[in-house]
Amino acid sequence: MGRIIAIANQKGGVGKTTTAVNLSACLAEKGKKVLLADLDPQGNASGGLGLDKNAMDATAYEVILGEIPIRKAIIREIFENLDILPSNRDLAGAEIELIGTEDMQYIVRKELKKVKKDYDYILIDCPPALGTLTVNALTAANSVIVPIQCEYYALDGLSQLIYTVDLIRNSLNPRLKIEGIVFTMYDSRTNLSLQVVENVKDHLNQAIYKTIIPRNVRLAEAPSHGLPVNLYDASCAGTEGYRLLAEEVIENGGND
Ligand SMILES: Nc1ncnc2c1ncn2[C@@H]1O[C@H](COP(=O)(O)OP(=O)(O)OP(=O)(O)O)[C@@H](O)[C@H]1O
Ligand SMILES: [Mg+2]
Repeated sequence: MGRIIAIANQKGGVGKTTTAVNLSACLAEKGKKVLLADLDPQGNASGGLGLDKNAMDATAYEVILGEIPIRKAIIREIFENLDILPSNRDLAGAEIELIGTEDMQYIVRKELKKVKKDYDYILIDCPPALGTLTVNALTAANSVIVPIQCEYYALDGLSQLIYTVDLIRNSLNPRLKIEGIVFTMYDSRTNLSLQVVENVKDHLNQAIYKTIIPRNVRLAEAPSHGLPVNLYDASCAGTEGYRLLAEEVIENGGND
């Protein structure tokens, strides 16, 4: 049965999409069957895997509105073992159109339930906000991975995210847990990155992945080639990082 993991942080640009795409790809590389659900109207995960965001008419948006079945919107084997539920800017409309709908927080959960048995992992790339889409993702998920960028304001907003996770656990989704914090864009040439990691470890009573994702130009380049990093450059530091993270995620699986 698929384990559903939301990749969330309402802060923008912290590495959510980079983590969602490349963790998905590295899990797939290890033979796991993976669905990457792009739940961000920016559609960066979809674009980063080479899809033309403007040329799609079967996306997460139509699924959420009940216009097409989820299996029709999922693109199979975009890469080996990796399927994607794409999205584009149409999805921004869903936030508004869902207002007043019965059980609006449960829609993504209900849809993913229909395909859960097809996968070992379903990863959800969340938008940089704590709105309806992220609430839907957290309601559907078994756990959350929180990417944190190694920069000075790393802890800003994190208490708000943890509070939101607590709220959802106490209401919509009692099984939800924070699976772990993952540090991204670590720059070993600066003291700042190290200080941020130490500071977060001191102040945050949460599980933290041993793997730290380095700042690596290959990770930034890969989306423009429509490839996950492991297929773009199989031996770069970014690939090594996400492969190690995939191993940790698989090992943690027994603790659910
Ligand atoms: N480890 C890394 N090394 C170098 N560049 C990175 C790394 N991680 C992410 N980036 C780059 O930083 C930018 C932001 O990353 P990403 O899009 O993954 O963040 P995000 O949290 O999904 O952003 P948003 O909140 O807008 O959805 C992108 O240009 C990405 O290529
Ligand atoms: Mg993103």
